[in-house]
Amino acid sequence: MRQPHLLQVVGACLFLLAATPLAWASAKTHAKPPSRVLTSCYMCHSTHGDDPRFGYIPRLAHQSETYITEQLKAFRDGSRSDPPGEMYMWPVSQALTNRDIDLVADWYASQPPPPPQKAGRLASYGSLIFHNGLLKQDVPACMSCHGPAAEGAGIYPRLAGQNIEYLLEQLRFFKSGVRHDKNADIMHMIAIHLTDHQMRAVADYLTSL
Ligand code: HEC
Ligand code: HEC
Repeated sequence: MRQPHLLQVVGACLFLLAATPLAWASAKTHAKPPSRVLTSCYMCHSTHGDDPRFGYIPRLAHQSETYITEQLKAFRDGSRSDPPGEMYMWPVSQALTNRDIDLVADWYASQPPPPPQKAGRLASYGSLIFHNGLLKQDVPACMSCHGPAAEGAGIYPRLAGQNIEYLLEQLRFFKSGVRHDKNADIMHMIAIHLTDHQMRAVADYLTSL
């Protein structure tokens, strides 16, 4: 086979050099995931954090950066100690430096919001609870902290599009007190007033946003 002429090679390199910054600029943030995502997180959370296949594994795409950072530190120091957290996230988080945590949190937070999922049967009741709370039961409107579209911010996690099984399980963990990391008390005081039926309703609704 004929070798390409040196000038052709140089020309191709110049073209690539010229084209690359444009491609990067249009992708806005990171062109490539940090290596930690590719070596460990992707197996369970997928590279872009939008895979709904495993109901008990949370979607991380577009999750609040502060919240992801806090949770990874809570798994690492053992303060978030609900059973799946201990089983799956404790081993993984031990290996993360603060720098790794910053990189992976930044990566997942900057991914596009995950596509909404099919609403569950009780979604319309769930929408009511989310927007208005349950006055007689001392339950404030969820949106007052999680945002009107459940988009989350800061220490308040995004709930929109999250997997039903995961949402429901965490609400039960808050209620029983088994999830008791730093900010979990806020949710404990709310979840103790919710029945299982009401938790399911709100999860049925949130997954569809
Ligand atoms: C073996 C599977 C597995 C791997 C690998 C894994 N995770 Fe997880 N992750 C889980 C499960 C399961 C949960 C839910 C834990 C619970 O219920 O408390 C979770 C929860 C989380 C949460 C909490 C999310 C929330 O909404 O509260 C964050 C953040 C997270 N993982 C980030 C990561 C990152 C970053 C990596 C890679 C460094 C990673 N995980 C690797 C299975 C995994
Ligand atoms: C006063 C503020 C506040 C209100 C009101 C509130 N939340 Fe929360 N919620 C939080 C905070 C803070 C966290 C994070 C807790 C932590 O870090 O452990 C949280 C976490 C959660 C999580 C866990 C998400 C995850 O990714 O693990 C779920 C599910 C949730 N809230 C559902 C609800 C529902 C449903 C309602 C309404 C019935 C509600 N919240 C009302 C503050 C609030």
